[in-house]
Amino acid sequence: MGINYSEKIPNNVDISADRRLQRALEKWQPAYLDWWAEMGPTDFNTNEIYLRTAISVDRDGWADFGHVKMPDYRWGIFLTPNDKEKKIGFGDHEGEDVWQEVPGEHRNNLRRLIVTQADTEPASVEQQRLLGHTAPSLYDMRNLFQVNVEEGRHLWAMVYLLHSHFGKDGREEAEELLERRSGNPDHPRILSTFNDPVEDWLSFFCFTTFTDRDGKYQLLALAESGFDPLARTCRFMLTEEAHHMFVGQTGVNRVIKRACEVMTENPQKDIKEYGAIPLEIIQKYINRWASSSVDLFGSEVSSNAATFFAAGLKGRAYEEKNYQEHRALDQGFTIEEWDGNRLSNNEVPLRNAMNEVLRSDYHADNVKQTVLWNKATASFGIDFQFTIPHRRFNRRIGMYADGFFTPEGDPISEEEFNQNKTKWLPTEEDEAFVKSLMVKCHEPGKFAGWIAPPSKGINDQSVDFDYVRL
Ligand SMILES: [Fe+2]
Ligand SMILES: [Fe+2]
Repeated sequence: MGINYSEKIPNNVDISADRRLQRALEKWQPAYLDWWAEMGPTDFNTNEIYLRTAISVDRDGWADFGHVKMPDYRWGIFLTPNDKEKKIGFGDHEGEDVWQEVPGEHRNNLRRLIVTQADTEPASVEQQRLLGHTAPSLYDMRNLFQVNVEEGRHLWAMVYLLHSHFGKDGREEAEELLERRSGNPDHPRILSTFNDPVEDWLSFFCFTTFTDRDGKYQLLALAESGFDPLARTCRFMLTEEAHHMFVGQTGVNRVIKRACEVMTENPQKDIKEYGAIPLEIIQKYINRWASSSVDLFGSEVSSNAATFFAAGLKGRAYEEKNYQEHRALDQGFTIEEWDGNRLSNNEVPLRNAMNEVLRSDYHADNVKQTVLWNKATASFGIDFQFTIPHRRFNRRIGMYADGFFTPEGDPISEEEFNQNKTKWLPTEEDEAFVKSLMVKCHEPGKFAGWIAPPSKGINDQSVDFDYVRL
């Protein structure tokens, strides 16, 4: 299915057939570009960056690489092909035809799901907007900007749905998506993590590892939706999302590798003195971003989640592949309930535990992630195991938010938590140290001292390729 690049807004959904929609999107486009100029990566809009642009939705060869200026990036609307036979795969409507239009009774819920997802996309661009200035290499700078332009495209993907299916309300929501600002106390982004500052590259790599992986799981659940345009747009977004997590997990891995090299070269010394980040500090950053991202799945027991599942709006990740039964009726899910004093096992109806089901899959994927990082330390003969904190640790949302737990998930007193906090989460001193290392390294093929070079370049280019032309 080809993409029409001759139009103002590249797309594979035949926008020009609907004049009203085309006009509405063409009106939103300059507002989007204003937002990009104001809140996107600062000061690099005139530089040529080696970026990939979607040219087709085919699995093989869907993207084209070339040097472009970010404001000239062709943000477009791409959906995976329409399958006319497609049936709803779960919930009360299992087996019925998928919807091409929004069913009236689900309109508000669908709008809410789409707006919540949409809001995270520009938020992350805002959070990361200053990082270009301290990029540890041109390779990394290019990866940052690739992530940024694709998050911008994800906003387009969601705004298309709002404009094409939600009338005036949808257009208003699309405007507000350009008005909220990450971290702004009066007009913040919707979800907590997306208001946290990302001011250094270790945070960026943790964000793209853990927060983009939350994105992956939300998209997987929405890719199951009975509202077919949403499912199809999410499926294509997942193709792009994989690269964001690659940037994160290989980024953290390279920081670990560099730390191990410096430890090996300078045994018994404090590697901070040699400009590398100690493994214990890396673990604390992992603890912060993993725990914050776990919050994004919402309350453990949720009647909204049950409604979304029952109505066929939001399914489980890999609903067809991973489950034999898709109604999730008359089944329970055991939650370790926290009543403020102690934990006890409590069975709740499965549909009400859908947030927790998705969070469990997400957590397992995070744990898998540590295998790669622990291989890195092991290859240097260093005895250090990275771990993912227990889902109860350091929560701000859900039933564990008003308790205190160790990274292993054991309940402790507030006092004990505060006594140990500096061991578990980055201290101001840790943050100041990490920030002190963030000095730009803008020469092709050179890398800042706190991070190892990647094993290979992007799209078969060499590591010293001019990924960014400054
Ligand atoms: Fe995204
Ligand atoms: Fe992403």
